[in-house]
Amino acid sequence: MPSKEFIQGLPKAELHLHIEGTLEPELKLQLADKNQMDIGFKTIDEIKESYLFNSLPSFLEVYYSGMSVLQTEDDFYQLAWAYLEKAAQHNVRRAELFFDPQAHTSRGVTFETVFNGYYRAVSESDKLGISTDLIMCFLRDMSAESAAETLEQALPYKDKILGVGLDSDEKGNPPLKFAEVFRKAKAEGFRLTMHCDIDQENSIEHIRQVLFDIGVERIDHGTNIVENQEYVDYINKHTIGLTCCPVSNGFVVDDMKGQEIIELLEQGVKVTINSDDPAYFQSYISDDLYALAQVYNLTTEQVVQLAKNSFEIAWISDEEKTKFL
Ligand code: ADE
Ligand code: ZN
Repeated sequence: MPSKEFIQGLPKAELHLHIEGTLEPELKLQLADKNQMDIGFKTIDEIKESYLFNSLPSFLEVYYSGMSVLQTEDDFYQLAWAYLEKAAQHNVRRAELFFDPQAHTSRGVTFETVFNGYYRAVSESDKLGISTDLIMCFLRDMSAESAAETLEQALPYKDKILGVGLDSDEKGNPPLKFAEVFRKAKAEGFRLTMHCDIDQENSIEHIRQVLFDIGVERIDHGTNIVENQEYVDYINKHTIGLTCCPVSNGFVVDDMKGQEIIELLEQGVKVTINSDDPAYFQSYISDDLYALAQVYNLTTEQVVQLAKNSFEIAWISDEEKTKFL
């Protein structure tokens, strides 16, 4: 099994990371203090003790309430920059960052404030040796109309946002709810991905919808696809990769889904390992890869393949890919 140092040193692309999920307790307290907000916690330990989630909804409650401390453009910049500095330590060379504008506009922060702060960090990331882009996610537990309004707000910045995604609570919120907004986003030139969370009531039907009705280029999570050979063959044929997050899975469904990840890897699927919400799950990308390698006794070849896959399905040019493959 490869060592932690070996895994940390491997060049990696992080393709499934919610930038709001990188808000560490230290920065949360600092921003609360600066913005004169009472968040109900006075110490880092108190904040960490409140991280008692064992399902996606219980996690999302903590995640949304935590981000209320983000108020000014500079707050968003600081958050993204702090993540990028951390990512550089893990030898992340390519980062495609999800951001959730509706989680901020719904509490009165303007789209411009959010976007400008994040984009400033993204545009400085080459100083850290990281090529970075933004993927705007719609919150699937909000309405399709709200998603459409958010897409309108993003259009002036469309050359600076690489793609769109779909996150938040999947129960009762199937991909098809957003078919029209994703059709429009594609027509405007955005690349497409969507979450298909683990072990949903309708996992296979949701995977069918994202593949055949929406036409995504990647699936975030999506390991239930292993239950349907026809769909596995389809994603292999079309090089549609999966962005998996084993430590996050451990929290929300009490199973890293390592068996499924290995089975898909053995079938040649472009599976990748990512950190999802590292500040909350206390696991950055190398920690995720190492945890998976330890629990499932992965070989060095398997770990290297997972890292290579991340560049193969990254939304970068073939020329940029060849630097890492
Ligand atoms: N938004 C932030 N983290 C998420 C996750 N793990 N699943 C769905 N939506 C999210
Ligand atoms: Zn996610």
